[in-house]
Amino acid sequence: MREQWGSQAGFILAAVGSAVGLGNIWRFAYAAGENGGGAFLLVYLFVVLTLGVPLVVAEIAIGKHGRADGVTAFERLAPDSAWRRVGWLGVAGSALILAYYSVIAGWALRYFFAAARGTLWDRPPGGFAEGFSAFIAHPIEPLGWHAAMMALSMAVVVAGVARGIERACLWLMPMLALIVVALAGFALTLPGSSGGVAFLFGPTWSALLDPRVILAAMGQAFFSIGLGMAVYITYGGYLRPEQRIPGPAAAIVACDTTFAIIAGLAIFPAVFAFGGNPAAGAELAFITLPDIFLAMPGGRAVAIAFFFLLSAAALTSMISLIEVPVAALMQRAGLRRRVAVLAVGGAALLGGVPPALGYGPLAWLNVTGRPLLEEVDHVVSNLILPLAGFGLALFFGWVLPAGTALELAGIRGVAGALLLCAIRYLAPAFILGLMLFRLASG
Ligand code: TRP
Repeated sequence: MREQWGSQAGFILAAVGSAVGLGNIWRFAYAAGENGGGAFLLVYLFVVLTLGVPLVVAEIAIGKHGRADGVTAFERLAPDSAWRRVGWLGVAGSALILAYYSVIAGWALRYFFAAARGTLWDRPPGGFAEGFSAFIAHPIEPLGWHAAMMALSMAVVVAGVARGIERACLWLMPMLALIVVALAGFALTLPGSSGGVAFLFGPTWSALLDPRVILAAMGQAFFSIGLGMAVYITYGGYLRPEQRIPGPAAAIVACDTTFAIIAGLAIFPAVFAFGGNPAAGAELAFITLPDIFLAMPGGRAVAIAFFFLLSAAALTSMISLIEVPVAALMQRAGLRRRVAVLAVGGAALLGGVPPALGYGPLAWLNVTGRPLLEEVDHVVSNLILPLAGFGLALFFGWVLPAGTALELAGIRGVAGALLLCAIRYLAPAFILGLMLFRLASG
């Protein structure tokens, strides 16, 4: 018997668990910081509404109809066609993201343990900047934390869809929501915090038409929602026939966006209150914030809560990234879940070694001078994910007959027309235009 979700809420929370991750807390903060705060947020909201929701609906619909993994679902809708390659792109992409994602998740886990044990405050002589650089450049330590995160995620996924993935997310997601709201509430009471609110919500209009800002927002939206990598196809494949798609899809995207904004309200007000640099980049969470935690009243508890949030959010996302290739291996190679989880987790563990060592022993291994992990993330977010989204839009919008597509999605009337319009014209045009811009500008 094919596995199924225990409940509609379980499905939604599992999907939200996939969507809410490092992308919402760590990546959103630095993407917003580097791209002008409020302007970025506005473009981001636009992309989420016009591309995010329609593509999530399309993915879930394909999976639900196929009742199968990311590759087989395409085959069932378009037998003997090349479209299954879009599925393979997703399966391979998930495994690729899993490998480097786990490395950053490992950094978060290390900070959580250090905060909980109090050792985070034994400040290294050069402050957190040097402490962090020394940690990620270490030839062994980051590997250990990467392995720990991978093992945790494998332990959840091996227990199955309802008993592993769904149960973990039913527990963790409400807890994470409480933590992030509490952290934001606290940050907003700090004197001087209003600068952070203005930074996040005050748009710089000139940035709205800057293709680089739009590209960054699109990359962030794809990554944060988790589009194109067959996660929603795979998760949709565990739905029952009577479960509906549009409501959950909108809820998932809304939760993901709200979570990112509230996380921003936990981070930027604190950064402004303590005079940190909001555009600090990827190290915002690991260098800027610890300094602030050290300086703020009750900062120790805040640090524990924050790094727990970061680690647990990463865990529920890694779960989905493992499940995509696992589902494909189970169905297509006839492997048992346990064997498939070992194969995928093992491969991702090895695959994470080069990016994990890219700040130390393997620092020479790069193309454009950035650390390997950032190179891979850049290619994934700005190329592979949009490309997969492009393929998905073409398939759902143009290959499937319009009537079939809308029937699969369970949408009629004006909403159906809008959905088709977004998937047929807006998504492909938008994605293609931005990718051409990126190629042209090098
Ligand atoms: N969405 C997660 C985050 O924001 C990461 C993630 C999980 C993901 N599954 C994905 C990203 C699939 C791209 C594709 O951190």
